[in-house]
Amino acid sequence: MKIGILKETRPNEKRVAITPKIAKDFIDKGFEILVEKDAGLASSFDNEAYEKAGARIVSKKDIFDQADVIVKINPLDNDEINRLKKGQTVISMVYHRLQPELVQKIAVQGANLFSMDAIPRISRAQNMDVLSSQSNLAGYKAVILGADHMTKIFPLMMTAAGTITPAKVLIYGVGVAGLQAIATAKRLGAVVEATDVRPETKEQAESLGAKFISVENDNDDVSEGGYAKEQSAEFLQRQKEAVNKSLFNADLVVTTALVQGAKAPVLITEDQIKQMKRGAVIVDMAVEKGGNVALSKPDQIVEKHGVKIIGQTNLPSTLATNASELYAKNLYNFTTFMTDKDGFKFDMNEEITKNTLLAKDGQVLVK
Ligand code: NAI
Repeated sequence: MKIGILKETRPNEKRVAITPKIAKDFIDKGFEILVEKDAGLASSFDNEAYEKAGARIVSKKDIFDQADVIVKINPLDNDEINRLKKGQTVISMVYHRLQPELVQKIAVQGANLFSMDAIPRISRAQNMDVLSSQSNLAGYKAVILGADHMTKIFPLMMTAAGTITPAKVLIYGVGVAGLQAIATAKRLGAVVEATDVRPETKEQAESLGAKFISVENDNDDVSEGGYAKEQSAEFLQRQKEAVNKSLFNADLVVTTALVQGAKAPVLITEDQIKQMKRGAVIVDMAVEKGGNVALSKPDQIVEKHGVKIIGQTNLPSTLATNASELYAKNLYNFTTFMTDKDGFKFDMNEEITKNTLLAKDGQVLVK
């Protein structure tokens, strides 16, 4: 089977779907690897490294003419969809709930489509879970980015000129990104607090050394399949009251709260920002999904009421080398699981296939 790696076309995207090391692993398994020229350059993998691994550097046209499987990180763009041929299989992130028309367009071409972001969060699929591998890096980067914009240091420092007290960091949302943000801020020496709607996250946050801020919730049914549900206005109000003291004292706030299939909840209003410390920094990791912070804007740093609100999108791309390494390994585990010597198994009774196969032979398989 020939796998073609496309160069990403999304603006400012630096990652690549398969690294030279994983290209070699695929080749050792009997796959052929075609790489669009310069696909890995932005993530520090040059054409020679792929050639050394046994891959062939080709043009985009060659990929669409020759590959059985086409891999990418971001969804195919319109030009790429138009080039698809019947029977080709595409594997990328799709976010099909946000853009169902994309699945339809790929189905019309007669191609098959697997979505890497639809992999179920089950233990068996952990080594294929791109949401986790990318969020983990993003959580780290959010803290580093925030630290860079602060006018203070993180750790306690005793000097002849006096003692500097540690920075106070507050994390909203203790999922994969939030846990890594806690760990990173702790390693840098900050005093860290965190909050989440899922009660099981208390122990996880505490095990990393953060103080957990619990918010009373009348509703026992706060999550489904591990994902938080949308919370009531009363809960969000209670959460504000419980967290405000920490928020108004924080030097850095990282917000990561997402709700599946809905806009991100607004957890910090302009009125709250007005009461924060001058010089405080907020990194809103949910900015692409509508934002957890009232004033955040995608790819902008908004400065208001003495607070900097950073809304950088696509944080994993800023760590393109590691992010590509992890995505590539996830993709390798996924593809080798989905195939046997005859090609893709397309076993619709198997849970990972059922969740990720969005189109097959011209048919859309999701609603
Ligand atoms: P996510 O990105 O969907 O959300 C981030 C966090 O925000 C979550 O912890 C969520 O509870 C929290 N949140 C939502 N609304 C909130 C609000 N109003 N206030 C405060 N916090 C709020 O979550 P992520 O990181 O994708 O994790 C989702 C679940 O998947 C978790 O239960 C995680 O443990 C689980 N998981 C399972 C894996 C596996 O077994 N393969 C791998 C990775 C994650």
